[in-house]
Amino acid sequence: MTGTKDGERAILSRARDALRLEAAEVERALAGCLDAWPLPAGLREAMEYSLLAGGKRLRPVLCLLFARLFGLGAAAAMPCALALECIHTYSLIHDDLPAMDNDDLRRGRPSSHRRFDEATAILAGDALLTDAFVLMAGTRGVPPERVLEAVRAVSAAAGSAGMVGGQFLDMRYTGKAGIGWEQLAAMQALKTGALLRASCLAGAMLAGADPEGIASARAYGEALGAAFQIADDILDATGAEERLGKPVGGDAAGGKPSCVAVLGLARSRHLARAGADAAIAALRGRAGETADLLRGLALYTVRRLE
Ligand code: IPE
Ligand code: IPE
Ligand code: MG
Ligand code: MG
Ligand code: MG
Repeated sequence: MTGTKDGERAILSRARDALRLEAAEVERALAGCLDAWPLPAGLREAMEYSLLAGGKRLRPVLCLLFARLFGLGAAAAMPCALALECIHTYSLIHDDLPAMDNDDLRRGRPSSHRRFDEATAILAGDALLTDAFVLMAGTRGVPPERVLEAVRAVSAAAGSAGMVGGQFLDMRYTGKAGIGWEQLAAMQALKTGALLRASCLAGAMLAGADPEGIASARAYGEALGAAFQIADDILDATGAEERLGKPVGGDAAGGKPSCVAVLGLARSRHLARAGADAAIAALRGRAGETADLLRGLALYTVRRLE
């Protein structure tokens, strides 16, 4: 994407700094987002335990940036951004459950079912998913038909034709020989790609982007989503638990259907990079600081732990 290694390093470091800044704004809003309604204290504790454990906040940041790219400020897009992080956090809590990946560490802490118990973890996840739509329905300063369009995109991405459908296939493929790249890529597009794509799309939809703008948000989100799960698979094989805040090596040990298992490390790296390049290409012709930041984020996605 850029001429020189130095140029690329500079873009990457700017993207890291900017992501940190944007994520800090999300963090502040997340901290109070469950205060709007009464809920049982123990349930709140479990929801906040996972929600406020310091993830990268990539999905809400993508939503805010695509909203900004098409002229909508953070205040109006924030309920949707928070909802995306709630849905993502629920997916992580359930993904770690003994019946799924059976992982004991998440975001640098014991996973929810280890810190509390399985029933509490399941219910904290259920609550985060459902409350996400209470948050989105509280969007202000945006025409209602745009909110409805964004709700549809986000709910479809979270549901049976999106993340849950992909997680179902992930479990079906676990321990199975002979899963090919096409099958795997289709599964990853659902389990991870759908919500990342919807994060970009929802921001653009709330901002009232024209069809061309919606198409570039979709193309960027789709390519970034593919690259992101490939990078996650690579990090499971090569990364360090202390830096990732979650266990490594579980994909190979648990017979999980991963890109590294199907294609090997070198081809996985190549594909991740191609995904980032495709995301960058989706923003071709878009000038300005926000577009630059989104280009940097695509690069960050595949090189985040170098
Ligand atoms: C992890 O997502 C699960 C996948 C979809 C691969 P992230 O890597 O975005 O996790 P957090 O939010 O930073 O903890
Ligand atoms: C999970 O993929 C994607 C989700 C929908 C949560 P992984 O199982 O690879 O995610 P990690 O590695 O546990 O974060
Ligand atoms: Mg999983
Ligand atoms: Mg997992
Ligand atoms: Mg993983």
